[in-house]
Amino acid sequence: MDEEGEHTVRIGIIGAGRIGSTLARHFAAIGYDVALANSRGPDTLADLVADIGGPIRAVTAEEAARFGEAVVVSIPYGRYQELPTEPLRGKVVIDTCNYYPERDGHDPELDGDATTSSEKIQAHTGANLVKAFNAIYWENLRDHARPQGATDRVAIPLSGNDEEAKAAVAGLIRDIGFDAVDAGHLGEGGRKHQPGSRVYATEMSSAETSALLHVA
Ligand SMILES: NC(=O)c1ccc[n+]([C@@H]2O[C@H](COP(=O)([O-])OP(=O)(O)OC[C@H]3O[C@@H](n4cnc5c(N)ncnc54)[C@H](OP(=O)(O)O)[C@@H]3O)[C@@H](O)[C@H]2O)c1
Repeated sequence: MDEEGEHTVRIGIIGAGRIGSTLARHFAAIGYDVALANSRGPDTLADLVADIGGPIRAVTAEEAARFGEAVVVSIPYGRYQELPTEPLRGKVVIDTCNYYPERDGHDPELDGDATTSSEKIQAHTGANLVKAFNAIYWENLRDHARPQGATDRVAIPLSGNDEEAKAAVAGLIRDIGFDAVDAGHLGEGGRKHQPGSRVYATEMSSAETSALLHVA
């Protein structure tokens, strides 16, 4: 509740790098309560949190996981097994992570396309995972938010197995100035916006993104 007794949205963010801190800035700017975590501890985030300002605090990853109605996970994929699990179970988690073997180390299941990075994070955490914000370069995420109704809004593809969770995340995407385009379920849909896919690291409208995602 805020000072007028109205509900404010609580966003936990695990990972305070380029994407995590950019999302923290966007959410804090619209008055959502943000709890931001990295791996080295809240003390190391004091300057960043002061610079962002507004309704934001630095916390541990465990605290961010508990705090958020929705929790963003934005860390190098190779470190996903360090994520807290119990507080994320069943929770709406926004997964921005991509698999880059040169950074993350080789994962044979992903190299063989037996599964996807998001499905592995979902299995590890038991979260209600929605993959989003993984396909936009962080500077474009920082600079290209547009108000509702603007004709030059950029689309963010998302995927997940739960329609309600996807609708909630689509709402958050719109709230911070982007359009959301549903790519489908986490496995099949997620593959359509992971690295190497047609929409990855492009900047397109929702109509263009939708056409590329749903081409036969
Ligand atoms: N950069 C982009 O344009 C972009 C675009 C879309 C998606 N992505 C993907 O999104 C993810 C984040 O990318 P990024 O560029 O923002 O990364 P980054 O700048 O390298 O930041 C990574 C953040 O994750 C934190 N972290 C690492 N392990 C953690 C753990 N176990 N618990 C809590 N925090 C942890 C790091 O904290 P410490 O510094 O304290 O270790 C750091 O704050 C990656 O999977 C990346 O592939 C990146």
